[in-house]
Amino acid sequence: MRVNSLLDELANIGTNRSGGYDRLAWTRADSECREWFISQAQSRGLDVEIDRNGNLWAWLNPTLPGKALVVGSHLDSVPRGGGFDGPLGIASAFAALDQLNDMLPSRPIAIVAFVDEEGGRFGIACAGSRLMTGALSSASFLALTDRENVSTAEAMRAAGQSPDLVGLDAERLACIGEFIELHVEQGHLPTSSGVDGLTVDEPLGLATAIWPHGRWRVDFEGQQNHAGATRMDDRQDPMLGLAQAILDVHQMAVSRGILGTVGKVSVSPGAVNAIPGTASLWIDARGSEEIMVLQAMAEFGRNALRESWTPSTSFSAPLLEAISRAIGRDLPLLPSGAGHDAGVLALAGIPTAMILVRNPSGISHAPEEYAEDDDCESGVLALAAVIRDRSA
Ligand code: GLV
Ligand code: MN
Ligand code: MN
Repeated sequence: MRVNSLLDELANIGTNRSGGYDRLAWTRADSECREWFISQAQSRGLDVEIDRNGNLWAWLNPTLPGKALVVGSHLDSVPRGGGFDGPLGIASAFAALDQLNDMLPSRPIAIVAFVDEEGGRFGIACAGSRLMTGALSSASFLALTDRENVSTAEAMRAAGQSPDLVGLDAERLACIGEFIELHVEQGHLPTSSGVDGLTVDEPLGLATAIWPHGRWRVDFEGQQNHAGATRMDDRQDPMLGLAQAILDVHQMAVSRGILGTVGKVSVSPGAVNAIPGTASLWIDARGSEEIMVLQAMAEFGRNALRESWTPSTSFSAPLLEAISRAIGRDLPLLPSGAGHDAGVLALAGIPTAMILVRNPSGISHAPEEYAEDDDCESGVLALAAVIRDRSA
């Protein structure tokens, strides 16, 4: 099946009325995407399995000896996200297997859909893969709540999953020989206008590394009070500190040559006619060098609480070379500013690589995220060639 027909089947799941998709982890939309995954796997005769952390696996020949070649990505989105970040990797994996009907694999092959990659609901990105590798402890995961104060355990149960066994899955990790994630590019891949001054007309690229990145929370305390009955001089308004902090994050990022974003704030009680009692903001900070990001955040101060951190991650050079050989050409190499489950697995010592499909809009985590049909098909052909090469 063509990859875009597969993506079309997801097109009506979790649509946001102002564009894009709301497919946050363990919501109804996420569950519908997971049901789609299961039906795709079953229609191809693959064995479906849900692991202890809620990640979905579709196995071809699971009983063959040897470590598995795993391909896949995630199905969840950020709020009002695009339709390609995650689902393109899953749909391409199914479409690639469709091209390999004649192959007699020498090892198990699996398609994985990692759960809660975006962290759009509970704040920790790549929760499913981090739990599996032990990078996120079950206790830390189970302590998370969403904006409505629903815990991760409650959310999992509401989606029909059990939170009882979440955590390190060493047995499963030991079965994974290699992981390859195909992903829509998120801003840097060559379009005809080129990248880093180099003009190339190539729909695909290979990610060499993931920039170090982390999330921090800053809380501001005030005194909740009446907006019409409290003199300006008498106020303890936490919004003033929050506003200044947002400006400072921007300034810090510009002066340090890193990326700094405040994309989420929370204000309590959130009434137009009440001075807030508390306010919080979340900082996403990334950069090419760990030291630059960590030093900038240390100097930012304000008791910023680090909620997650992913160090600099390199993908497997031999696997990247093997992919180029299998595809029959050298692809542009570029770092990823975005985090991925592939990075989590690479940090756990699994040989890992990412194939990127160009995104002419240069926009991601937004409805404008885009990839041309023909480019997506090039991605499928590449993935099929790699699967054949690594497992025939
Ligand atoms: C995930 O897409 C991230 O980079 O935060
Ligand atoms: Mn993604
Ligand atoms: Mn993403």
